[in-house]
Amino acid sequence: MKITVVGAGKYGSTTAQRVAQAGYADEVVLTDIVEGLPQGLALDMNQSRPIEGYETLVTGSNDYGPTAGSDIVIVTAGKPRKPGMSRMDLLTDNAEIVGGVARQIADTSPGAVVIVVSNPLDEMTALFQKVSGLPTARVMGQAGMLDTARFQDKVAAKLGVSPLAVEAITLGSHGDTMVPVPSKVTVEGKPLADLLSDDEVEALVQATRDGGAEVVALLKTGSAYYAPSSAAARMAQAVATDEGAVMPVCAWVTGQYGISDVYLGVPARLGKGGVTEVVELDLTDAEVANLREAADSVRSKQADVDGLLR
Ligand code: NAI
Ligand code: 2OP
Repeated sequence: MKITVVGAGKYGSTTAQRVAQAGYADEVVLTDIVEGLPQGLALDMNQSRPIEGYETLVTGSNDYGPTAGSDIVIVTAGKPRKPGMSRMDLLTDNAEIVGGVARQIADTSPGAVVIVVSNPLDEMTALFQKVSGLPTARVMGQAGMLDTARFQDKVAAKLGVSPLAVEAITLGSHGDTMVPVPSKVTVEGKPLADLLSDDEVEALVQATRDGGAEVVALLKTGSAYYAPSSAAARMAQAVATDEGAVMPVCAWVTGQYGISDVYLGVPARLGKGGVTEVVELDLTDAEVANLREAADSVRSKQADVDGLLR
């Protein structure tokens, strides 16, 4: 099992370390355009192996040779946002970067399952699939796992319970039309609506949508990467181990929830072939309406990305 991480910045390096340390991959390749960066990080990561007790080798590279024949590719190449920027402000720059990566991966690892994380996430996932020509089932994006974890953490903090006691799911786009799903939140098995008022739930939903910007405003020089890398690494593990777990991912939707032909955050079953099924949860009418609104918004932005490709 070979797993490549493209982009050795904050997100890519933490992801490579998490994947290597989990121990299920034979080899992890970390690649970046900055000379020496992936090689130096790989050395550093490998030297943590005797202490942490795992064997997976990380190889650093500035070209795609060592990545050839990867089973899974995680794409983190691209610019992160700075305070005051929306994810959408990254569209033009990152479309060029992600488009270039897509061509390289299609050439060198045509059998891979790809997990895109570069922002704006939904649009970059669609762009990667279009440029690479890989089947939609084998190209997905990471956002929902992160947004869900943020929702869980905020609910836990509000109620003073462990984040592990909170079940939740967040769908829709990785942006303003994110759809945290309060009807599916439980805390120690109890529905959220029995524990908090509607206004308190709405405040948590908004705080979840703003969760990325909250970190950017504090860091000032880039965006979050610890929780994001946990999210991408968890998806990679589900694919690598053919787990069949259902998790929120940006996947190609083909009629589920009355939505078609768009990359959108939905619950999906992950296995060796990538997205093996988009799962339809029983949502409230308002939640389905929000999901359709998110789909319309992402579809129009994806059309803008298509314009950039011409
Ligand atoms: P960073 O600036 O630390 O790292 C980006 C890396 O990409 C740099 O090392 C850069 O040299 C590299 N790069 C640029 N062009 C490249 C190319 N053509 N090929 C290979 N590498 C290239 O940024 P960070 O924090 O790692 O974020 C990476 C991306 O992930 C950003 O677009 C950010 O917005 C996104 N992100 C997405 C999240 C999500 O939930 N989907 C969460 C957090 C960040
Ligand atoms: C985040 O949500 C910026 O997408 C990045 O942290």
